[in-house]
Amino acid sequence: MSATPPEKTLTNPRAKHGFIARTCSIAAVGAYVPERVLTNAELERVVDTSDEWITSRTGIKERRVAAVGEHTSDLAAAAALRAMERGGIKPEQIDLIIVATITPDMPFPATACLVQQKIGARNAAAFDLEAACSGFIFALEVGQQFIMSRTYDTVLVIGAEKLTSIIDWKDRNTCVLFGDGAGAAILQNRPNTHGLLTVCMGADGSKANLLSMPGGGSRCPATAESVGSRLHYLRMDGKETFKNAVQAMCQAGREVMRRCNIDISQIECIIPHQANQRILDAVGERLGAQPGQVFMNLDRFGNTSAASVAIALDEAVETGRIERGDLVLLLVFGAGLTWGAAVIEW
Ligand code: UT7
Repeated sequence: MSATPPEKTLTNPRAKHGFIARTCSIAAVGAYVPERVLTNAELERVVDTSDEWITSRTGIKERRVAAVGEHTSDLAAAAALRAMERGGIKPEQIDLIIVATITPDMPFPATACLVQQKIGARNAAAFDLEAACSGFIFALEVGQQFIMSRTYDTVLVIGAEKLTSIIDWKDRNTCVLFGDGAGAAILQNRPNTHGLLTVCMGADGSKANLLSMPGGGSRCPATAESVGSRLHYLRMDGKETFKNAVQAMCQAGREVMRRCNIDISQIECIIPHQANQRILDAVGERLGAQPGQVFMNLDRFGNTSAASVAIALDEAVETGRIERGDLVLLLVFGAGLTWGAAVIEW
């Protein structure tokens, strides 16, 4: 006779010694994607590719492209305003804005400062955080630390990208993969809720060359030559990145579940970075996920880097895919290399 193993009891890793100093909950989320849809059929006219190749190798059918004059700070501000409206948060209440992005409006000042002005959050400190596609989880963890330390009560975390501004439209290996968009989350101390239970983050700089934009920094400032050599575009070793992504997201996912004393069957929804359907399938399979447990929207938005998990979380909440009280597992992976995972009790 086979007995079903008893369900593990959720442990809040912050409740060590039976004391939770504070709770960091996600009070509200919001997202914004530009109106313009770029389909695979249109890309067939730009590079030597096909809808069949893109769909079967990535799962992507279309992505969004920012309008002329629409920048990362505009996408970020639009997502933030939606989250603020849903959470009933006034601009003056926001103490800190963190924008995770690899496509800031400009090298400086920080895009977060431009967002602060656009949403009228005049009391907020603001800075950017760069962890590529892992940026949203890194920013959640940083924001959470400010809440837990009682430095701030309301932190606005945004993942926002205008990746089409750094795409080489002559490189079929990369130009079919990425899109523009933004997602936001408002963190607050809300007693008697679990919120963000635990976050883990990792990095491996020895593999920095797998995914990068070589030009534009202090190593290779913009010159006519660097522009001619196409150094100001994103470059990726897709195959190696793929392998590392699967391994790192699985490892990080297992680590945060271990910390919370839960297994995959207790997770209502897994929201991974939306890079490639084959990556998501492999991660789901290795973690023992059930069909439908892994959330996917990359068919409509492609890879939006730091915005990816934030947009997906917003969609999962808005469509009722996750409800208050559900356990949600977030998984990210990106350039750096960087990776991370989080367990949220929504
Ligand atoms: O956001 C950070 C994390 N990002 C990722 O994790 C992305 C990870 N990598 C991937 O998703 C996949 O590696 C890609 C989708 C980028 C590429 O898929 P792949 O199955 O690894 O293809 P490949 O790079 O091995 O290329 C296979 C073939 C090549 O042709 P040959 O050399 O075999 O003749 C490519 O030139 O497919 C060709 N190819 C294309 N063909 C049509 C590459 N891109 C395209 C394209 N259309 N767009």
